[in-house]
Amino acid sequence: MSELQAIRGMEDILPPVSAIWQHVEATIRGLLLDYGYQEVRVPVVERTELFKRSIGEVTDIVEKEMYTFEDRNGMSITLRPEATAGIVRACMEHGLLRNQRQKFFSTGPMFRYEKPQKGRYRQFHQFDVEALGYAGPDIDAELLILLARLWRLLGIRHVSLQINTLGTAESRQMYRADLATYFRNSFGQLDEDSRRRLDRNPLRILDSKNPDLQALIAGAPQLTQYLDGASEAHFNELRALLDDAGVAYAVNPRLVRGLDYYGRTVFEWVTDRLGSQGAVCAGGRYDGLVSHLGGESTPAIGFAIGLERLVELYSLAGVPAPHRTPDVYVVAVGDGATRLAFRVAEALRDGTPAFRVETNCGGGGFKAQMKRADRSGAVVAVILGEDEVASGTAVVKPLRAEVEQQKVAVAELATAIRPHLQGLPGWPPLA
Ligand code: HAM
Repeated sequence: MSELQAIRGMEDILPPVSAIWQHVEATIRGLLLDYGYQEVRVPVVERTELFKRSIGEVTDIVEKEMYTFEDRNGMSITLRPEATAGIVRACMEHGLLRNQRQKFFSTGPMFRYEKPQKGRYRQFHQFDVEALGYAGPDIDAELLILLARLWRLLGIRHVSLQINTLGTAESRQMYRADLATYFRNSFGQLDEDSRRRLDRNPLRILDSKNPDLQALIAGAPQLTQYLDGASEAHFNELRALLDDAGVAYAVNPRLVRGLDYYGRTVFEWVTDRLGSQGAVCAGGRYDGLVSHLGGESTPAIGFAIGLERLVELYSLAGVPAPHRTPDVYVVAVGDGATRLAFRVAEALRDGTPAFRVETNCGGGGFKAQMKRADRSGAVVAVILGEDEVASGTAVVKPLRAEVEQQKVAVAELATAIRPHLQGLPGWPPLA
């Protein structure tokens, strides 16, 4: 059997946890649609080149974590490790950025060959949001305000926001040079990874998790000292908008992010409830990416929520996901009852308002079927036996209240069931 197990780091999502996923995803989707974002769906595989050029050659993702294959034609393709690159590619390919602004969202699986542990998987899911064509800090603020509302909607309290600004490419260039000099002066203390990054991308050394390097990193020059005036003004305006909206944040000057396309605003929502995998949502500005990929210069910003982590956090809060149960469970015992059951069930589903009906399938005696009816969560059982088939009647048995069952004509079923649902969600009081 062992060769038929799921691949390490790739999880099955099964009931009852899948109900939480549905609730969380529906909440995010509804909120984004309300804010005027539209859905895009892009392929799960792209040319490897796209990710190398977008995310950056000297990043953990591109160096160590991509699922890269040759297809049957010898083309190098990669399972997407994130969504931004593919969405930007789609926007360019379909001319969606010509004098236009776009507010998009997308969701689905991403793939990174990381060391699997709690909260970190090789196939994981993101809810990704991208706003393209927006230069000002207003959209930066909107994304963060929207996320603060999302946590409130989901009842999630233990997340906090960290923000930083990376300035422009030019200011980062100067900073990069000084940072490289700083680390070069302590070359002997650097580990192998950091030495390799020294020339190509010294900023990435700041991201190192190696405890032996933390003191050296703490003493390194800070990007804030190199910030240009326009980036500083952008950041200050964002902070003012967040203050105004009552969104709490901490400025973390060490927040640099693991992907190369960022400039100016970067942010992470972090929690201390999920062990070492504390980032629930992360993103930032990538004003240079579209032109870097050969398009017309287009400012843009986005983020991605890690859904496994969000679902885990939601579960820790102990709020059960809304559970969808049928109104009616149809029990059918004996000759002819199954045929009548389907007719009755479809008629109830056709009604206005329509009943949510589950029909017993897979046979079973009366007792076994009643047990299933109870477990389904239905409010009433409709019982059809041979007597009922012969007389064109049905028994309505309330399952959640101490009320006598009632025999009614099949044509009267809806009228007989309706009072039992009174006051339940989706069922307005009877006139
Ligand atoms: P990221 O920081 O690489 O950013 O990932 C965003 C979120 O995805 C993380 O904060 C985390 O919650 C989740 N995540 C990442 N890797 C894993 C994993 N191996 N297992 C479980 N969850 C994971 C991006 O991906 C950017 N594309 C975000 C963005 C969009 N920036 C601008 N637009």
